[in-house]
Amino acid sequence: MPSPERPLEGRVALVTGASRGIGRGIALELAAAGAAVGVNYRRDEAAAREVVGLVQAAGGRAVALQASVTELAEVDALADAALEALGPVDLLVCNAGIASRGQSVADTDPAEVQRVVATHAFGAHRLIQRLLPGLRAAPRGDVVVISSSELAAMRANGAPYNMAKAALEALALTLAHEEVGNGVRVNIVAPGLVVTDMGSKLVKAKLGLDDISQLDAAQPLGRVTRPADVARVVRFLACEDAAMVTGQRIVVDGGADASPTG
Ligand SMILES: NC(=O)c1ccc[n+]([C@@H]2O[C@H](COP(=O)([O-])OP(=O)(O)OC[C@H]3O[C@@H](n4cnc5c(N)ncnc54)[C@H](OP(=O)(O)O)[C@@H]3O)[C@@H](O)[C@H]2O)c1
Repeated sequence: MPSPERPLEGRVALVTGASRGIGRGIALELAAAGAAVGVNYRRDEAAAREVVGLVQAAGGRAVALQASVTELAEVDALADAALEALGPVDLLVCNAGIASRGQSVADTDPAEVQRVVATHAFGAHRLIQRLLPGLRAAPRGDVVVISSSELAAMRANGAPYNMAKAALEALALTLAHEEVGNGVRVNIVAPGLVVTDMGSKLVKAKLGLDDISQLDAAQPLGRVTRPADVARVVRFLACEDAAMVTGQRIVVDGGADASPTG
């Protein structure tokens, strides 16, 4: 039974890209709230097993599920494996993602566009499609997609990533309209810069900084966003407190959007 300490007790979550970074934070947060969690990863099996071990050590239930969401056949296998290991998923978090290489539209290999959009959006579309029967049948179903606050800027040299996140958000908002009558809530969480491998590589490439936390002092709220900050918003969206929230987009960027320096 759900309780104030474990509001997601009885729920079954699947988090894509949960071996590292934001997805890892979300998997740990949802498990701490009582959900059984499928920890999807692409390559880093040791990291995924570590997440599973942390959940189990805290008395929770988790399983590592290897699949690249870029490949639709692997997405199908992931859906089957999650259903077999955990039962019907009623809380899906589409988080897995890759950065693009930072080239202009003029110079970008079309294969990169395919790969990045497939990873963020086509894989999410297929996974949602495969898990919808369980999401609909559950007392409550939730889909949360992890986008990016960067989408608003449409910065130069980011077309594959911008296209991928735009497609992902279009998928989520359309799904919210389609599934509201089935009790499935669909929301978007859009982080700004977050302290992860992806965030660190971005900061190294753009600013030449080796340590992303060197940016803490310059942030409007005094620090760069951490995975747990994003994870707690995902938890909120899946809890009873957000029972009437669907089709929404929440930016988690520590006030960067609100900052006078932007
Ligand atoms: N970090 C930021 O500043 C930031 C800001 C806004 C939005 N985001 C978004 O937040 C999400 C997570 O980013 P992050 O910073 O946590 O990235 P990260 O540190 O690079 O971790 C990426 C995670 O996604 C997994 N992954 C990558 N490609 C995959 C695939 N094809 N199939 C399955 N899993 C895959 C990785 O698995 P392996 O460990 O097996 O490789 C890893 O668990 C992404 O959608 C990203 O676009 C990040």
